Amino acid sequence: MESNPSTPPKIVCFMCNWAFCEEELHVPYNVNIVRVMCIGRMDPTLVLETFANGADGVMLAGCKPPDCHFIDGNLHAERAVKMLKKLLALTGLGANRLELLLTSPIESKDFGSYAKVFSEEIWKLGESPLKKDELASMIRVNVDAAKNAASAFRLRVLLGREEELTEFLNAYGEKIPEEEFDALLDEVVKAEFIRYKIHHLTRANPRSVKELAEAVGIKPSAVLRHITNMRRKGMIALERVEGNTPLYRALEVR
Ligand code: FES
Repeated sequence: MESNPSTPPKIVCFMCNWAFCEEELHVPYNVNIVRVMCIGRMDPTLVLETFANGADGVMLAGCKPPDCHFIDGNLHAERAVKMLKKLLALTGLGANRLELLLTSPIESKDFGSYAKVFSEEIWKLGESPLKKDELASMIRVNVDAAKNAASAFRLRVLLGREEELTEFLNAYGEKIPEEEFDALLDEVVKAEFIRYKIHHLTRANPRSVKELAEAVGIKPSAVLRHITNMRRKGMIALERVEGNTPLYRALEVR
């Protein structure tokens, strides 16, 4: 288990404006509240940016279904959190540093205890690995890759179609079971994360497949498959061949 610092963790809570009564809220002093008009409007990249800026834990607090003023913002937030937890696990920050709380104004006085329990969980995990010198640079690369993956078109489209794919019958009279959708989401999240990590690592200097395989922690054959896909999308190009070794460099992604 990691050693705990003596100061409480820094928690940022993005809170829907309609989910709680201001007068009844008791907010622990180590929790910073940021009000938003609906928790479904939170850009997932902003959550990752909050970690990059030093938060040890992040809470998203919104309205309990079916109370969202924008119909399904809370359900949208549930899907975004599912994706973000997978990305946080890949970055090395850990999925448990993010929590979604859906509640209603009559439970406002309970917010303090929810926040306290979450804060204690984060305290047990220890401070963000981004604050540890030996890990910070590697995790920063991962967080940057996660931010790009979170805004990748393919991932956004897949998340946006979760309800349609898992709850309604398609043209063949089938719907995708939740576990199958989750496995597909896992696969797409991981693939996008790895591609943006390769992209990040080849921005400053061109690198070989072998170097990238070592840096990313996957087999060279898997790196080569990602590079083929990235070349098709205009994310990377062959810069030169040194001896028999091809070196790849990232292209600017628009
Ligand atoms: Fe509160 Fe949408 S208005 S979650």
